[in-house]
Amino acid sequence: MTRAFPDGFLWGAATAAHQVEGNNINSNWWRLETVAADHGVQPSGDALDSYHRYAEDMQLAADAGLGMYRFSIEWARVEPRPGQYSRAVLAHYRRMIDTALDLGLTPMVTLHHFTHPLWFDDLGAWLSEGAVDRFVDYVRQVCTILDGIEWVCTLNEPNVLAVNEGQTRRIAKGLDYQFGALPDVEIGEVLIAAHHAAAPVVRELTGAKVGWTIANQAYTPTPGAEQKYAEIQHVWENMYLEAARGDDFVGVQSYTSQSIDENGVVEHPEHPDNTLMGWAYRPDALEISVRHTREVVGAEVPIIVTENGIATDDDQRRIAYTTAALEGLHRTIADGIDVRGYLHWSLLDNFEWGRWDPTFGLVAVDRETFERTPKPSLAWLGLVATSNAL
Ligand code: BGC
Repeated sequence: MTRAFPDGFLWGAATAAHQVEGNNINSNWWRLETVAADHGVQPSGDALDSYHRYAEDMQLAADAGLGMYRFSIEWARVEPRPGQYSRAVLAHYRRMIDTALDLGLTPMVTLHHFTHPLWFDDLGAWLSEGAVDRFVDYVRQVCTILDGIEWVCTLNEPNVLAVNEGQTRRIAKGLDYQFGALPDVEIGEVLIAAHHAAAPVVRELTGAKVGWTIANQAYTPTPGAEQKYAEIQHVWENMYLEAARGDDFVGVQSYTSQSIDENGVVEHPEHPDNTLMGWAYRPDALEISVRHTREVVGAEVPIIVTENGIATDDDQRRIAYTTAALEGLHRTIADGIDVRGYLHWSLLDNFEWGRWDPTFGLVAVDRETFERTPKPSLAWLGLVATSNAL
């Protein structure tokens, strides 16, 4: 059965600066990789050297038939010292935008994907005085190079960021790392304020459609755990989804699904099908996430799937996962949900935040020679894109 997607549906793939560029030495993550090396955190190092090889990356996406490329701009490079902006780095990101446009790829730009400058970290990051204003100042500078950009994401996964930054805060207080921690609500509220302050600035200075991207957990309650489910849903996702009402779009990012019982989120049970992240193989998570997003955000805000994918070393499994996820996505569209596009995570096998083994890419990369080798899934997704049908 052929499943056609709406005319103009956007098909593409995503990456993030710190995960692919390499030598992002002025960022908090670079420091974290050093500090936490004894705890098994691997370094990003040269990453995939995409800071220099971005044109080759984009060419692969375009040649395969994809029409959109989502990438992020690195605050730590743009503003290496407070208030000191690098014109050369801004020009670099402008070249990336131009390269995408020349290749016929619609660029989607993320302004913040988990990392920030060391100096911002030293000040106390998101809980420091003036944090939102500092972020908006940076955003204003980036807007000078966003001419012709249609799609801008302010912050990537503020809910996961609030988990990570909350952990950093615990550790700074001398407390232990907490497995399965919920997002830190106080930090989350600052991130919401940052989004609400930055979005109108970007809209006004560029005319782009502006939104943010939420890590959807596709939680489901076990019988009797409805109250716990509602509490966790609120701090994990709904407060961020509610903050997207009034945006030009909302990004859904989905990988797996977990249930919630009376004690909280149930860990993924060991299973041979689990992905290289240890997550349950749940391609149906995307459909659950899109429906939930629509329910909380409302019908007025279009949805774009800004990330969906699987960490596996078996590319046929990637195709099977994505096929099932897209079947679910198609059902949501058939039910009238306004979904505008699908971006696969990720274009490249990249730095998975302290680990190199979970491979999410449509393209493999040799980390010594930086040679790119497209996997069959890239051609497969390209064919889905060019036929606009599954
Ligand atoms: C993030 C990516 C990450 C991916 C897989 C999302 O949480 O935006 O940076 O690599 O999921 O874990």
